[in-house]
Parts: sequence; C-alpha cells; structure tokens
Amino acid sequence: MSDKLIIFDTTLRDGEQSPGASMTKDEKLRIARQLERLKVDVIEAGFAASSNGDFEAVQLIAKTIKDSTVCSLSRANDRDISRAAEALKGANRSRIHTFIATSALHMEKKLRMSPDQVFEQAKLSVRFARNLVADVEFSPEDGYRSDPDYLCRVLEAVIKEGATTINVPDTVGYAVPELYGLFIKELRERIPNSDQAVWSVHCHNDLGMAVANSLAGVKIGGARQVECTINGLGERAGNCSLEEIVMAVKTRRDYFGLDLNIDTKHILATSRMVSQTTGFVVQPNKAVVGANAFAHASGIHQDGVLKARDTYEIMRAEDVGWSANKIVLGKLSGRNAFKQRLVELGVQLESEADINTAFAKFKELADRKSEIFDEDILALTSDKGRPQGDEQYGFVSLSQRSETGERPQASVVFTVQGKEVKGDSDGNGPVDASLKAIESLVKSGAEMVLYSVNAISGSTESQGEVTVRLQNSGRVVNGVGADPDIVVASAKAYLSALNKLHSKAERVAAQG
Ligand code: KIV
Ligand code: ZN
Repeated sequence: MSDKLIIFDTTLRDGEQSPGASMTKDEKLRIARQLERLKVDVIEAGFAASSNGDFEAVQLIAKTIKDSTVCSLSRANDRDISRAAEALKGANRSRIHTFIATSALHMEKKLRMSPDQVFEQAKLSVRFARNLVADVEFSPEDGYRSDPDYLCRVLEAVIKEGATTINVPDTVGYAVPELYGLFIKELRERIPNSDQAVWSVHCHNDLGMAVANSLAGVKIGGARQVECTINGLGERAGNCSLEEIVMAVKTRRDYFGLDLNIDTKHILATSRMVSQTTGFVVQPNKAVVGANAFAHASGIHQDGVLKARDTYEIMRAEDVGWSANKIVLGKLSGRNAFKQRLVELGVQLESEADINTAFAKFKELADRKSEIFDEDILALTSDKGRPQGDEQYGFVSLSQRSETGERPQASVVFTVQGKEVKGDSDGNGPVDASLKAIESLVKSGAEMVLYSVNAISGSTESQGEVTVRLQNSGRVVNGVGADPDIVVASAKAYLSALNKLHSKAERVAAQG
C-alpha cells in the first residue's frame, strides 16, 4: 500500500455548490493557481456539462495549470463525459470524475432507475470515459447509505472497466468515524480487484464529522485519497476541510504514517483568498486558519508559550503561513516591494499593466491608511466593485449625507456597460440609502438575504469588507467589496453581486 495521501481539492466544484459561493471564471482561475502553488495533487475545477460558464472555467484551468491534475465532474452519461473530456483537452494531466447514485433511496426516488439499470449505466460510463482519458474516478453517490452487497457488485464492475480511483461519498454527512472507516475496509476486502484502484473518501459535514470521518476512512479503511475543500466550503454544512485534514495528517505523522505533497506555508493565503472571493468569512476559532487559531489569551498559556512554545502549541503558526503575514507595507513602499508581496501571497496578475493598476490602487489606499496588511492587498486585488472588462456594472463614486435626526441621502455614480449614470435615494441609514440609489436605476428586484461587514485587519483604521448576498429567480450570489469607507464598500459589494446575477451562466443543479 502506498504511503502517500493524495489531496483532491473540490473547492471549485463541491465548494462552489454552497448557496452564494458561485465564482466567476477569473476568480476560479485565480484560486486554481493558488491551489497549484499549495501543491494540491488533484484540482476538481468544475462540472463542465452543467453550464457554459463552468465548461469555460474548466477549460481555462486545464490549459493553465501544469503541476496538478485537473479534473471535471460529470454525471454518468455520454454527453456529460464527452463535455468533460472536451473541456479538459490541453491539460497536462486530466481526470474525469463520473458519478451515479447507488443508494436504494436515490435510485428509486431520484433517478427512478432499477439497481440493474444503474449497474449498467455505471459500467458503460466508466468504459466510455476510459476511452477518452486514462485517469477515471468513479463515485457511487450516497455510497455510504448504499447496500454493501450491491455496492461491491457495482464497484468491482467499474474497476474492471478501468476506473483508476474509487471514491466513496458520504453525500449527506450521515457517517460516524469508526463505521465509515470499517465500511471502506469491508469494501476493499470484499472486492476481488480492489487493489487495482486508489480508494478515496468524500465526506460532508452535516454532523460536524467530515474531517474525523475522512481520517477514519484513511486509517481504518486504507483510503489513499481525501476529497476536501478550502475552509471546508461545500453543500449545506460543507465538506472535509483541507487545512484541517492536511495538518492532522502532518502533525500526527507518528499515527498516520503518511506523506503529503502539500506546501503548508500557503495554507493561510489560500484560505483568505477563498474567503475573500466567496464572501464566506472564516470564524475566528476555526482550526488552523481562524484568527484565534494561534492566539494565546490566558496569562498561563502566554507564560508557557514564552518559556517553551510546545507547552501549548502542537503546530508552528509559520508552517501554515501565519508569520509571513506580519510584513506590513506602507505609503513609502515601492512597486518592487508590492510586486514581491503579490508573489508571496500567490496573487498572479496577468500583465505589467495589471500590476500597475493594482499598484495605483495600493498607493491610493496607502494615502488613506497608514499600514497595509496582506488582507488589504488581497482585498484590493480581488476588488470587483470597479468596472472590469465586460462587467455590466462598476462603481465610480459616492456621496452621502447623514445627520442625527435627519433621513440619510445618498447619490451613487456607477457605470452600466461602461456608461456613467447617477442614482439618488434616501434610506434608513447611509448604506441603505446608497444601495437604494443603485437599485433605483438597476431595478433588479433581487432580495437581499445577507449583509455583513467585517473589519479586514481589526482596527477602526481598517478597510471594511462587506458581503452582500442577493437572491433572484432561484439564483443566490455573493458580492464582496472592500474600502476604508464601509458605505463605499457596501456599494461595491452590491454592484459585484448584481454583476454575478447579471451573468448569463445557467447552472444545472449538480446532484452531488
Ligand atoms: O457528495 C457527493 O456525493 C458528491 C459526489 C458527486 C462525489 O459530491
Ligand atoms: Zn459532495
């Protein structure tokens, strides 16, 4: 048995299925590059057949990424599989991940297919995919709740057809660690050709056990691939979190005895990039990447850590990227220092012109704020409030007036397809007035389901990062905006969400 654990990241596919976490093609590419930097073995870039937008994102990532395998999800049918193969053309290493549900409940109620039909479909799909690419993963959806005898029959058949990885999803997060581990072990022991495939775990976090279940699948079941996402993003309560599983296996190498390719120094920057792109804030007490993960508040702990760090620390903060964060840039920092920081943060700008634009934004910010932290740089390089290329709306300027006892008024200048317009409104507060001013012209009719403000670097001098979640005609999108003025940040976030709503990408609800 190999002693290497393959890290399969599905932030861009399963993670993106979180309501509101949908990302644009460019955002996905940016995250994919960061995942490559992190040395993730496999990047599941999307579900190519689900929309033209997803197809293009998979295609772009496949062409750009060189070191990680790029994978596309596909349902178990020829059309989806062909679409995945087409999107992956040009990749250095590609994988098709095909799936079909195998639990009695899903087969009968969702697919309305008999077990024999599903069996045939699974076999034919893997055969079809293997004719297109050499690396094929098969997932029996809702595998953990499937009848083990039936599952053995299906999995043996798909391995015979050439599946190179067998993934056993706990689709609904129902498993508990020991039972999930034993389930994988039983399958591997009973299936005669099980040694011809790599076994993989894919756990959802509905009961808060996705990481524990995945570790049990590895330790007890002998799985050698873990499917996970940055910050545990994913459907409902999310997936197994990459940073937690990686640091558990690394910190407890004495117990797991497994090696990983991951370059852990990039974990924190990746977590921040995903959080700032999706607007899903990381809770302060989140393991590894939360703001308090390495903070020692009590006097006894501080005293212990100062005397001998391992009294209270089992991992080194710098090993996951925390120390790098201390470097602060300011108004006197030059273009080279800024460029170097971008490289260290994993921000790859396409051209010198893009770097110049980002540097100009940096200087503008440095005039208003004495210290610029990494979070500020990430925010300004992912700032979608401004007009970008073909985007429908872009922020230009804002003025507002509020005084105790008076109803606030706001005027917002923004672009619609490059043309400047100005909206005016009053509102309950300056933010409300500003968003109403935009809506008075856009008339999106979208319902706001979330509005949140987060101080990027903790003080009142900090930039405010605003997340706005809008819902319209069944689509849920997040917009994020950052600025030292939270009213401006709110307007940028609102316009960014409107841009996403406006994008035509139609998504077929993924079944996973
Ligand atoms: O949770 C799930 O079952 C999935 C599959 C598509 C692998 O995401
Ligand atoms: Zn899933």
